[in-house]
Amino acid sequence: MDRRKVVLITGASSGLGRAAAGLLASSGYVVYGTSRNPASSFSDNFNMLKLDVRGDDSVKACISEVINKEGSIDLLVCNAGYVLSGAVEEVSMSEAKEQMETNFFGVARVVSAVLPHMRENRAGRIIIISSVAGMIGLPYHAYYSASKYALEGYAEALSREVHDKGICVSLVQPGFFRTNIAGAAALAEKVVMAYHKQKGRAMDIFHDSVASGKTPEELALLIKRIADSDSPKLRYMNAGSARWILMLRPLIPQRMFEYVLSRCTGI
Ligand SMILES: NC(=O)c1ccc[n+]([C@@H]2O[C@H](COP(=O)([O-])OP(=O)(O)OC[C@H]3O[C@@H](n4cnc5c(N)ncnc54)[C@H](OP(=O)(O)O)[C@@H]3O)[C@@H](O)[C@H]2O)c1
Repeated sequence: MDRRKVVLITGASSGLGRAAAGLLASSGYVVYGTSRNPASSFSDNFNMLKLDVRGDDSVKACISEVINKEGSIDLLVCNAGYVLSGAVEEVSMSEAKEQMETNFFGVARVVSAVLPHMRENRAGRIIIISSVAGMIGLPYHAYYSASKYALEGYAEALSREVHDKGICVSLVQPGFFRTNIAGAAALAEKVVMAYHKQKGRAMDIFHDSVASGKTPEELALLIKRIADSDSPKLRYMNAGSARWILMLRPLIPQRMFEYVLSRCTGI
């Protein structure tokens, strides 16, 4: 009988991570999800571990625990993240660094800790949850976009480094999904009134788009499809109408693209 594959999913206390963890667990994978407060996000079909992706020690302890129990991690899903909202002029450097620390360095920290084990096994899958905001600079979410753009370049380079070592890297670019992401968003502390009105409109559209987005279970199906695939691609997008806007981008004049985008973002 085949050994059950072991999956580690960061940020599995809610939203996309939780849905993916639940689906993979019910499909026969041995799943470890993580949260900064695992006790408050218990699940009866997958294991929950404590992890704060911002800390080297926390990452080391979490990975060691899975390796000690299971002997390997076959699939890593780097999903933990949050949104920082605010005009560039309003965001302090410490707020901006915090965003990068979780969304970008948090991924890099976990990947660096898992890679030696995958390399030793000459096998492994890494799925990194990026965003459509990693393809389009989202106004009033510049640092969130920057963190996802950073992941795009990082994952592309990584996939080329590890492909001959039996490790596949994939980026998932979701559009809007109905999760806690808008409710959990951090707001820049400083307020510059000159941006107030436009930011308000952009934020309303962001909140409405999340509230009317697809279900997390739909993205979980895509993650399972990548996990099950014999030869996963580098990029997968599940972005509804944003997909068409992105496809139009190289085909229409820049000004027209900006017009379409302004209608979508409320600016
Ligand atoms: N929902 C969307 O429309 C959408 C669209 C594009 C991309 N995404 C991406 O999808 C991923 C998941 O977001 P979601 O929509 O599912 O949001 P969510 O419901 O707010 O879930 C975020 C998860 O990230 C974890 N997390 C946050 N900071 C963390 C940290 N420092 N260390 C460890 N875990 C941390 C949270 O766990 P704890 O708080 O329990 O630690 C939680 O489980 C994010 O990377 C997000 O950028 C979402």
